Amino acid sequence: MNREVDLYKLRINIDRLLERLDDLAKIGAIENTDGCSRLALTDEDKEGRDLVVTWMRDLGMDITIDGIGNVVAVWTGPHTDPTLKPVMTGSHIDTVKTGGRYDGNLGVLAGLEVVETLAEAGISTRHPLAVGFFTDEEGSRFPPDMLGSLVYVGGMSLEDGLDTVGIDGAVLGDELERIGYRGGAPCPAVAPHAFVELHIEQGPVLEAEGVTIGAVESVQGISWTEITIKGQSNHAGTTPMHLRRDPGYAAARIATFVRELALELGGRQVATVGQIKLHPNLVNVVAANATITVDLRNTEEAILQQAEQRLVEFCDRLAEDEKVTITTRSLARFEPVVFDPEVVDRVAHTAAELGYSVKRMPSGAGHDAQMLARVCPTAMIFTPSWEGLSHNPFEFTAPEDLEAGTNVLLHVLAALANENGYNK
Ligand code: GLV
Ligand code: MN
Ligand code: MN
Repeated sequence: MNREVDLYKLRINIDRLLERLDDLAKIGAIENTDGCSRLALTDEDKEGRDLVVTWMRDLGMDITIDGIGNVVAVWTGPHTDPTLKPVMTGSHIDTVKTGGRYDGNLGVLAGLEVVETLAEAGISTRHPLAVGFFTDEEGSRFPPDMLGSLVYVGGMSLEDGLDTVGIDGAVLGDELERIGYRGGAPCPAVAPHAFVELHIEQGPVLEAEGVTIGAVESVQGISWTEITIKGQSNHAGTTPMHLRRDPGYAAARIATFVRELALELGGRQVATVGQIKLHPNLVNVVAANATITVDLRNTEEAILQQAEQRLVEFCDRLAEDEKVTITTRSLARFEPVVFDPEVVDRVAHTAAELGYSVKRMPSGAGHDAQMLARVCPTAMIFTPSWEGLSHNPFEFTAPEDLEAGTNVLLHVLAALANENGYNK
């Protein structure tokens, strides 16, 4: 039988993929929703990791865990050349506190589905295939986001990664040790031959345009800042307005400023205040201090820098006007990333060949692929998100779209893994 024809006709098993998505989503499940809560390196994350590692082992994959807890499983078929660098896919299985079941999880479980589909059909790729899940992609417990993949590619030292302090005061290295996922494989790791990540879009574009597959060309730049405001705590009833030094008011001013700034800059500029903490946080007390976070993103580095500068200037003026002190700390800063045009083309052409509609687009969210792009040819595949919802337990992608995305992943990975001399 002709192996080429077999591979061309091959399709993934959507029921098997849905079953794994469902089993993983049961861990940290959020009541009365389909969503889940598995913040990085919590007990729920450990349980999720254990389940995925069991599946990797069941598929006969060779599993390594590195010093920051990234897990990589390599598959070699009977005719694979094990001396070649693997073609890699994967994503993350940690979630935000109120997360969905698809963000990250899809990319990892779709990778396993591709391996199982090939193994079942008795088809080997020339290069090995690797499926990984990276530690703390979300960064909501241990900023920055994509921390595990950043260490994987050498963008942060292992020591700095392990020393990261979480929003709950926990130290990343201690938590990694506690859940038993501090492995011995070196970081940075050897770069794969190529990397392709399947992910839900997490935005409204594909659904609105009725398109099934996104061929992701780039990821926008990300800037996270924590702002601490200190003022004078005092009595809410007795303190005249003109004598107040109110961190709560200053925090609210910053929140409205960044919204207006994003609207003024226009284009793809977005701005979010996701966290506001007041102390002592009581109805009749002018707060003593406030901590707020600002998330700024843009596909254009120059405009992102302009937004950051404007925020600094605003905080300086505000500190003077309200007689508070304002200090800032960068939690994450990544420039926009452009993916490898050949791999992006491969995604777009493969989707079209399989009969799916396709749109080239940027990513609004951060992804492990943007870190891998530093060391090897990389691109991403997007599938539509219902009503553009993500980082929300009601995140949903229709089974036929999951199937389409995973079929594209299958054929892109197989093509890359069968090419000669692809890695430039
Ligand atoms: C990570 O998911 C991010 O884009 O914040
Ligand atoms: Mn994600
Ligand atoms: Mn996410």
